[in-house]
Amino acid sequence: MSEKIKGLLDLDTGIDDALALAYVLGSPEAELVGVVCSYGNVTVDTAARNTLLLLELLGRPDIPVYLGADRPLGARGPFEPPAGVVRIHGRDGLGDVLTENRSRNAPRAAARRDGWVETLCDTDVSYVPTGPLTNLAEALKMTPDLPKSLPRVTFMGGALCVPGNVTPCAEANIRNDPEAADAVLRSGLKTRMIGLDVTHQVILTREDTARWRALGTAAGRFFADMTDHYIDIYEKNNPHMGGCALHDPLAAAAAIDPSLVTCLPANLRVELDGPVRGRTVCDPERLRDAEKDCEVALIVDAPRFLGEFLARVERALA
Ligand code: RIB
Ligand code: CA
Repeated sequence: MSEKIKGLLDLDTGIDDALALAYVLGSPEAELVGVVCSYGNVTVDTAARNTLLLLELLGRPDIPVYLGADRPLGARGPFEPPAGVVRIHGRDGLGDVLTENRSRNAPRAAARRDGWVETLCDTDVSYVPTGPLTNLAEALKMTPDLPKSLPRVTFMGGALCVPGNVTPCAEANIRNDPEAADAVLRSGLKTRMIGLDVTHQVILTREDTARWRALGTAAGRFFADMTDHYIDIYEKNNPHMGGCALHDPLAAAAAIDPSLVTCLPANLRVELDGPVRGRTVCDPERLRDAEKDCEVALIVDAPRFLGEFLARVERALA
């Protein structure tokens, strides 16, 4: 039997990040070795609290949780999620559906401040950021040789052929820290971009979440309620989609099984100025380079992914 894939998630733990976490915990080929937290959907402290709480709910309080960046590179003030993001993920980042009891229970384990870069430097680790790329940009500053040793990083973010979701040009994770994303994409690191081009093709419905509620477990009920909140918002903001997009779970899935997506090899950079700030584009200066650093996912086997998603998340919630 082949060895398990060691996964290190980097989450700004909101609703679809929570779904990615459950996906990995329900995947028999993967072993989750840690979760690094970031600001983004929530503050970094809330992301860490949410991650600890979810790991406890999913029966894995042993997995280490690390506190990462609390703000974008170069930001002066502390980060607060904008009102639009609070509407999508709730004030607590998990759809505001926690019972009094559970939300008041402080998680037993505490988030660690150090140690995740060492885990990242373990050459076997598959790193999957599903929030801003600030933590990875900081790690590259600390460890400039990282691009030579780190296996391909699969990240959720960006939009190559479709419009953005926070501005007409920019996707939320990249827009949160364009400088960090640009530094990562031009560092020589091998990456796989799971952007809106593919995540807007994988949609979860209320019929799907009803299956989790029917499991009769606390985790099943919580995940169903939380995700229904997310679907409510999608119905208001994107009624044509017929459910919610599974952004972060698709990135986790493509890290475990890259054959779920078909990619365009490209060298990317991020626009840093003006109204296009945060847009992911092909880097004109590296357009003719034979070697391409990034695999940009443009096609996804949606039926296969959705089937695997439901099976794996159900296993984690049972
Ligand atoms: O654009 C979608 C991304 O932004 C997801 O990672 C979601 O969790 C938010 O961070
Ligand atoms: Ca996210």
